[in-house]
Order: sequence, then structure tokens, then C-alpha cells
Amino acid sequence: MAHSKALRADVVTFKGDPFLSKPEDCLVYIPDAIVVIDNGAITDLGPASEVSKRLPAGVTPEHYPDSIISAGFIDTHIHYPQTEMIAAFGEQLLEWLHKYTFVAEQKFIDKGHADKVAGVFLRELLRAGTTTAVVYCTVHPQSVDAFFEESNRFNTRMIAGKVLMDRNAPDALLDTAQRGYDESKALIARWHGKGRQHYCVTPRFAPTSTQAQLDACGTLVREHDDVFVQTHLCENLAEIAWVKELFPDRKSYLDVYANVGIVRPRSVYGHGVHLTEDDFCTCHQTGAALAHCPTSNLFLGSGLFRIFDAKKPVRPVRVGLGTDVGAGTSFSQLQTLNEAYKVAQMNATRLNAIQAFYLATRGSAEALYLDDRIGTVAKGFEADLVVLDKRATPLMAFRSGVVQDIVEQLFVMMILGDDRAVRATYVAGERVYDREMTGDKFSYAA
Ligand code: GUN
Ligand code: ZN
Repeated sequence: MAHSKALRADVVTFKGDPFLSKPEDCLVYIPDAIVVIDNGAITDLGPASEVSKRLPAGVTPEHYPDSIISAGFIDTHIHYPQTEMIAAFGEQLLEWLHKYTFVAEQKFIDKGHADKVAGVFLRELLRAGTTTAVVYCTVHPQSVDAFFEESNRFNTRMIAGKVLMDRNAPDALLDTAQRGYDESKALIARWHGKGRQHYCVTPRFAPTSTQAQLDACGTLVREHDDVFVQTHLCENLAEIAWVKELFPDRKSYLDVYANVGIVRPRSVYGHGVHLTEDDFCTCHQTGAALAHCPTSNLFLGSGLFRIFDAKKPVRPVRVGLGTDVGAGTSFSQLQTLNEAYKVAQMNATRLNAIQAFYLATRGSAEALYLDDRIGTVAKGFEADLVVLDKRATPLMAFRSGVVQDIVEQLFVMMILGDDRAVRATYVAGERVYDREMTGDKFSYAA
């Protein structure tokens, strides 16, 4: 029993999809619960009054008063090389890429720079309570090594890959169809399935890849069925018009990807702001997922993602939540939910707190086909957890003092909460971030 430990606080988690069933039927709320962890996994869970009677010998629960234990947040779309250029003024997507992004990404030819940014990035995720993310690196293979090395030290379950670009970007950021294929293949061999790391084939988006490079992506996923794929889709109107010019024979932007065989389970399409009914049907039928990135879509003026359209019960699409840093403006999934709520309002719809927290946890795990391991607080699941403080700020303490029920409490948390509300973050049962620690608040997992 040497590895056993226990945490005590309210638990919030989900047992179904609240976009498809009555939200209240999907919420699991256990006030004053104990979560028992052994060897990185949850081995017991229930009301403290019951679980305290059957705790393993010598285990005293770590008690977090006024707190909620949730599954660690899952971010389905984020760019680690853009950590340094978050909050870049004044442009929409295509100009923003050239003016800021492609400049920042060139620095990752230097492995030392990549190591430094990967370190900052991982700590920002953990400080925000995010324990799994789907991550773009740069075109440089060493940027992927830097990221996975740091993730492996924290033992976080991460999904990442080398960006593939062989046109329409600065020469210093271009590979070729063959080189991109070879480098991706070598990175898959080095990292995919190593500890908790997963590889993701990462064509940046259709405009920066030739047909030959997209074909090579299709070959890679046929050769390695269990890898992930990430790219961007229908984010911005000028981008969509450009794709139409570049691929006149394809019937839609999504069809550029479908044509090469990369619209499939474990493919994650960022944004999907301007999709048609046909596109949603294709995503539903193929099992591909969309990443909803509200802070980014507002920041770049891209548009309003229609989540209730995507999740229409007759043909639901798997949707995860993404920050899309550095176009996104926060690492915090709480702040991302705040903006998701407002985007839904602008579409004359209401994203309730049960749907919202589901999106940030179990919904994103389902989008990634990892919902058998992460995204839920239950026996047998990996103990990737975030402890959220209901009284993190004076205003949150005041407002939380008058909530009527847990759903209202969760709504207050997602509207007023951010990284300050993250009391602690656990990865595979180890506390890797502790807000109250003096000095370095981070530790590598054992
Ligand atoms: N489309 C292609 N590349 C990018 C990127 O880095 N960020 C965003 N938001 N959209 C993109
Ligand atoms: Zn992006």
C-alpha cells in the first residue's frame, strides 16, 4: 500500500453527454467525497462518511476545504511555440500568421529555445489545471523532442507532433513532402507510446501543404493507425476562399482532408467556425472531432462556432474544447468556458454549466477516444485531477457564499474562475502543482 493516497473535497464528474441527454442525468456530484489513488489510478471513490471507513491502512486524506475535485482539464487545440507571442495586436488569421506566428516559430531551430519554452508552457498548462493537451510543435523535429522530454518528466498524457508545411510560409519553416514524412516517421518511432506520450501527424492547414504532402499524411496514418491527426479547418473566411483557389477540384475544405484519408477517429480539426451541414455529417459519420476555440475565434475575429449545431442529437459530432494559445488568450479552460458561454449567447443559445464542464473534461476525452482512461473521476480511471477553489478570489468567495446548488456553483466557477482557482493539479496520482507551496510550486512526478 506504499503508493496509496487519498484526496477529500466535493467531486464533480460526468456519466453521459449532456448535449444528448438531460444535463442533470449526466452530472455526478458527490459532496464531501474521498478519492483513493493507488499507483496512479483511482481505486475508490464515494462520500467521505463511507470511504473513510475502508481507507487503506496509514492513509490520511489530503483535505481541500471549499474545493471541487474534477478530472484534469483537456485542451484539444494549442500551439506551444506561440507561448511567447500570445496577445499579439491587430490582425486577423492570415496576416497574424505572417506578422507574428511565423516569426516566433523560426526560433525553434534552437533546441535550447525549444526546451525553455516547453518548460514554461507545461507549467502554464498545469497551473491552469490542464493535464492533457493536443499540441502543435514547429516544423523542427527538435521542437517535438523538447516538448515530449518535458511532458515525459511530468508524466503528463500529451498528444503532439511536428508541423508539416511545404509551401506558403517562410523558407526557414518549410520541409518537403518527403522530408516531412521521414521526420514524422522517425518521431513516431521515438515518441508514440513512450510512457504517456502520443504522436500526432500535424499538417498545419491545407494552404501550407501541397497535395503531395497531404498524400504523405494519409500514408503516415495508414501505416500507423493509432496515431492522432491535427490541423485547422474553416476558421476564417479569407482562409476558406484561399483553400478553394488552391484546391479547385475538392468539393469543400474538409474534402481536401477527407480525400487523403485523414478524416477519421483521432483526427482533431481546430475551429470549424464556418462549417456546412454536409461537413457536420461527414464529421459525424467518420468519427472525426472538432476543437471549439472560443477565445481564439473572438481574438482573431474569426466568427462564432455553433456548438449546438455541431452536437445536434440526430448526427452529433465529437467536440472538444481548445484554448488555441497563442491566438487564444488564456491557458485556463475556465476562462475558455467563460468565452464559450458568450459565443453561445451570440448564437442565441445557452451553454449550461453541466455542458460546459463536460466539454472541458469527458467531452474532450471522447473527442480524443481516450474516455476509457481520462476525463472522468471514477474507479479505474487515471488519477489526472484538478482541485478547484470555490473561494479563490474575494469576489468568488462572496458570490459562492450565496449559490443555491452545485450547477450554479459551477457556473460561477467558469465565469469568474481562472488559474487562481486552481488549488492543486495531480498527474497520475502525483501532485505536480500546488498553489500554496512556497518557492517552486511544481514538482516532477516520481
Ligand atoms: N491556421 C493555421 N495555422 C494557425 C495557427 O497557428 N493558429 C490559428 N489560430 N490558426 C491557424
Ligand atoms: Zn491553432
